[in-house]
Amino acid sequence: MKKNLTLLVASGIAFMLMAFIAENQNDPWPVPDKYQKMANPVKSDAASIASGKELYAQHCQSCHGKKGKGDGPKADQLDTECGDFTSAAFQKQTDGALFYKTFEGRKDMPSYKKKISDQNDIWAIVNYMRTLK
Ligand code: HEC
Repeated sequence: MKKNLTLLVASGIAFMLMAFIAENQNDPWPVPDKYQKMANPVKSDAASIASGKELYAQHCQSCHGKKGKGDGPKADQLDTECGDFTSAAFQKQTDGALFYKTFEGRKDMPSYKKKISDQNDIWAIVNYMRTLK
C-alpha cells in the first residue's frame, strides 16, 4: 500500500514536470526545403538594414523586444515564448528559414504574408535580425 502511494506521488511529480517543460518550450518549427535554401535577394547593406530596423520597430518589437530578446511589452500575454534572436541557435538558421517563419507565422506569431505586402521588406527585416547578436 505504501509503495503504491509513493509511486502515485512520484508519477504525479513527473507529470507536472513534463507539463511545465511542455508549456515553457515551443515545439520545433520545421521549415520546408524550398524556404530553407532560399537565397536572400536583398543585399545586406546599410540601406536595407536601416529599413529593416524601421519595419521591425513597427511590426515586431512589441513582442520580440527592442534587442530581439523576446521581452517586448506584449510578450507576457502570449502562450508561447517569442524566442531569443541574439542566441546562437537562432542565428544559425538560414535567411530562408527566418523569412519563412515571418511570412507564414504560427500560433501567437502572426503571419506577415499580407501585413507586409512587399516580400523584399521581409528580407530587409531578416537582414536587420542578423545584427541582433
Ligand atoms: C504578437 C507577438 C509577435 C509579433 C508582433 C511578432 N512575433 Fe515573431 N514570434 C512570436 C512568437 C510567440 C514566436 C514563437 C512562435 C512559435 O514557436 O510557435 C515567434 C517566432 C518568430 C520567429 C522564429 C523564432 C525562432 O526561434 O526560430 C521569427 C523569425 C519571428 N518570430 C520573426 C518576427 C518578425 C520579423 C516580426 C515582425 C515582422 C515578428 N516576429 C512579430 C510573437 C510575435
